Amino acid sequence: MVDSKSQYCSYDQLLLMFWVIFLTELVGSGYGVGVNWGTMATNQLPPEKVVEMMKANGFDKVKLFEADGRIMQALIGSEIELMVAVPNYMLQKMSEDPGFAAAWVEANVTSYSYSGGVNIKYVAVGNEPFLKTYNNTYLPYTLPALKNIQQALTHSHLSSTVKPTVPLNADIYFSPDSSPVPSSGDFRPDTKPATLEIVNFLHSVDAPFTVNIYPFLSLYQSPNFPLDFAFFDSTYKRLRDGENGYANVFDANFDTLVWALRKAGYPDMRIVVGEVGWPTDGDVNANMENARRFNQGLVRHVLSGNGTPARKGEIEVYLFSLIDENAKSIAPGNFERHWGIFEYDGKPKYDLDLKGLDENKGLVPVQGVQYMYRRWCVLNPHVKDLGELPKSLDYACSLSDCTALGYGSSCSHLSEQGNASYAFNMYYQLQGQNMWDCDFNGLAMVTEEDPSDDKCRFPVMLARVRPVVLHRTVVGMLLVVLEGCIVFLLVVS
Ligand SMILES: *[C@@H]1O[C@H](CO)[C@@H](O)[C@H](O)[C@H]1NC(C)=O
Ligand SMILES: *[C@@H]1O[C@H](CO)[C@@H](O)[C@H](O)[C@H]1NC(C)=O
Ligand SMILES: *[C@@H]1O[C@H](CO)[C@@H](O)[C@H](O)[C@H]1NC(C)=O
Repeated sequence: MVDSKSQYCSYDQLLLMFWVIFLTELVGSGYGVGVNWGTMATNQLPPEKVVEMMKANGFDKVKLFEADGRIMQALIGSEIELMVAVPNYMLQKMSEDPGFAAAWVEANVTSYSYSGGVNIKYVAVGNEPFLKTYNNTYLPYTLPALKNIQQALTHSHLSSTVKPTVPLNADIYFSPDSSPVPSSGDFRPDTKPATLEIVNFLHSVDAPFTVNIYPFLSLYQSPNFPLDFAFFDSTYKRLRDGENGYANVFDANFDTLVWALRKAGYPDMRIVVGEVGWPTDGDVNANMENARRFNQGLVRHVLSGNGTPARKGEIEVYLFSLIDENAKSIAPGNFERHWGIFEYDGKPKYDLDLKGLDENKGLVPVQGVQYMYRRWCVLNPHVKDLGELPKSLDYACSLSDCTALGYGSSCSHLSEQGNASYAFNMYYQLQGQNMWDCDFNGLAMVTEEDPSDDKCRFPVMLARVRPVVLHRTVVGMLLVVLEGCIVFLLVVS
């Protein structure tokens, strides 16, 4: 029998079988770890170099908050899976005008979706549109925008490969104080009807539910939160829920969603964790050690296939985030600008084994980074009258980034003079190291001696990349010189 069967097995069939097995393997072990790439930063690395770095490190999925043209170009041919978002400010127009959604999909999805193009897998419609602080601004627009995007994907014949989703904040579900366990989970009453309509629609088109989960914020927001429960290395099951025990808040939070979905009639709804991570500065609990501990524990946990008590299997996650963003709003806290696994200049902050294989290789930095000159702006030690100092410091901080100076942060040990130097330098670097940016009523001076210490780094910013042509031609050189002179004259006069 075996023989007679095998004679029907043509070469093509064998090949097909091979592919099926290969692909099944790929899917089975292939969730891997994704990462969010935000671009709210003053001086950015060239996207092509960042993409090379992601490939070198084995990040196989990335999430973008906008279809940034330069990043999309850089992703062409990379095979990195992409979740690309429609920003919140477009939701209203997109909900009212199917043509707008169609044009967006055409320009930002279809035009890259060719073989060898960009591997777009999801379109994220909005970013946490139901966040409490938005006061329900986006509530009426999200579902219609989602439907218009799906319709546009269908018209472009992409609906089987590109799925829409809506990344929602974990504050759309909760367990009541009277029964703070995952199995009591349900959706927040004010947004529940809208959330369920979205769940229903996503389910109908075989698209996943996306949620952002932040154990760091649980810790940040409640002083009595048990530290170990925020991480993954404790085995102590602090939270009991019937037969289930929870040793970390990530699982408890995730399962609260699983239960809310179950009660709504969607026990098998696929869940993607759109953002999860730990910052390294700007708070007492935000440091390299905790960030590494959290992210490494998370990666091992999600790839292990153990899942959570209420949902077995691998968990699909996008770490937050790839690179620090020094221009993010610090309304939520000083830590907002320090979520990166990599520094602003593409250097890894700590080791992270992305495959969970216990290979301590260390992460590969971005290569060929161009900095401005190695010089810093500091408080002139010879100045006697420091009366103007607080005013100058505030001014410098208001136009740069002093989040490392605050309580519990990497530069919180500096003296008042050290603070001033830090602030002056940040301003000077962000302005582009012009000599007139290092004055502060005569309080400041430029130095070539690095003022950094073990803990507190005084950065030198990245060179802004000018169009290459300008540098290459004599006219270009002249223009650059002229530009400098004109700015100088304007400031001096
Ligand atoms: C594509 O996305 C970018 C970034 O969000 C946006 O500026 C642009 O308007 C979009 N294109 C269209 C045609 O909507
Ligand atoms: C939400 O409402 C609060 C209080 O009414 C207000 O301070 C805040 O600016 C509003 N936020 C938005 C995004 O509209
Ligand atoms: C330095 O600046 C930080 C942030 O503004 C402040 O909290 C701290 O008290 C300052 N340190 C000194 C010695 O003035």
